[in-house]
Amino acid sequence: MMKKNETIKLDISKSGVTISAAMQERAEAANALLHNKQGAGNDFLGWVHLPSSITPASLEAIEAEAARLRAKSDVIVCIGIGGSYLGAKAVLEAMSDPFRLLHKQLDGPTVLFAGQNISEDYTCELLEALKEHSFAVIVISKSGTTTEPAIAFRLLKAELERRYGKAEAAQRIVAITDQARGALKTLATNEGYPTFVIPDDVGGRYSVLTPVGLLPLATAGVNIAELVRGAQEMEQATGPEVPFAENPSAIYAATRNLLYDAGKKIELLGSYEPKLQYLNEWWKQLYGESEGKEGKGIFPASVTYTADLHSMGQYIQEGERHLFETIVSVAAPHHRLTVESDAENLDGLNYLAGKRISEVNRMAELGVQLAHTDGGVPNIRVEIPQIDAHALGALIYFFEKACGISGYLLGVNPFNQPGVEAYKKNMFALLEKPGYEEATKAIKARL
Ligand code: PA5
Repeated sequence: MMKKNETIKLDISKSGVTISAAMQERAEAANALLHNKQGAGNDFLGWVHLPSSITPASLEAIEAEAARLRAKSDVIVCIGIGGSYLGAKAVLEAMSDPFRLLHKQLDGPTVLFAGQNISEDYTCELLEALKEHSFAVIVISKSGTTTEPAIAFRLLKAELERRYGKAEAAQRIVAITDQARGALKTLATNEGYPTFVIPDDVGGRYSVLTPVGLLPLATAGVNIAELVRGAQEMEQATGPEVPFAENPSAIYAATRNLLYDAGKKIELLGSYEPKLQYLNEWWKQLYGESEGKEGKGIFPASVTYTADLHSMGQYIQEGERHLFETIVSVAAPHHRLTVESDAENLDGLNYLAGKRISEVNRMAELGVQLAHTDGGVPNIRVEIPQIDAHALGALIYFFEKACGISGYLLGVNPFNQPGVEAYKKNMFALLEKPGYEEATKAIKARL
């Protein structure tokens, strides 16, 4: 039986958009293409039915591997970049107490990330910090050939082998990669690392619900079954048989495309919860890589309020009118804290005494929504009940489905990323990688 979506409440009433019957039909047709696999990039649609295809046994295997790593390590370093990093990072930040490391008793290992940059300082300081802790590594690369994570893995593998010896190091490394191709696959087979597979038909930025996201999150103690359950519900709630008016992904996709057609070329994803900052980063990759091609596409940017109201607020209110906002709104916090009364009231805040901090935050959100819409910045609101694994799973699938529909509405292949190669060619030529001799000569002449 089809389960109605009760997790994501989408409100487009302040977007200024009226979705015509023609647009509804186009969005429904785009959604159908994702299911009947007749659209561009149809060999990368494994994510569409991914949540419902995750079995309890596959979750148990991931949990078991996570428990094994947790038992061995104070720190788990996840190596990966782009889609092999951002999903886990987004959910982890959303689910974590930002002050966890200040607690005397930790409730499990600390999950850190590497290979998402080529910073010598970052990598050095990580290696230095690891000296005081037992650690394990989860190395993630679908292609198995990406330079940034490969460099980080070479260094961390060597450190593990020096410290624990080759055999134990191999028990402290888990590889997540393609089932057959790539240097990481070869390395994992030769060294006997436990391995999880990224399905062929799931692209990096759609892979958070595969072991790419699930294993790191399980090691951090996130309830991955709940994450998947949220995504499964949203898979049902956005299926091709769901009427347009009840499909939040289709409505969001249609709305943002109509705004784009009306000249709103930049979408700001934001929230009033700093824990969702990396959700913004995950979303930017998802939409930027999926839609930014052929000279088209909404530019995905992000804000975290209220902090950014004190930096970006002026531009958003009065700068060039090419923006719209999508706010991920959290209905209820997990904690309760009120503003205290103060006998002297020198700061003049007694008018807030007794009010919850979340109420002040909510009034800021409502006030900003009206100010920005008055200033010509249309607003879309995506509300979740609270920040938990279930809601995050729903949100992830909601945005993924909307992105597929939106890309087809825009008329691009949302599942390739040809533009990502240009910088790599130049970097390899400058680094004199074997095979790039001609390109090296040519690029050096241009410097
Ligand atoms: O979405 C994508 O395909 C990319 O962002 C990749 O995830 C990223 O480039 C990392 O690639 P890989 O997992 O092959 O190392």
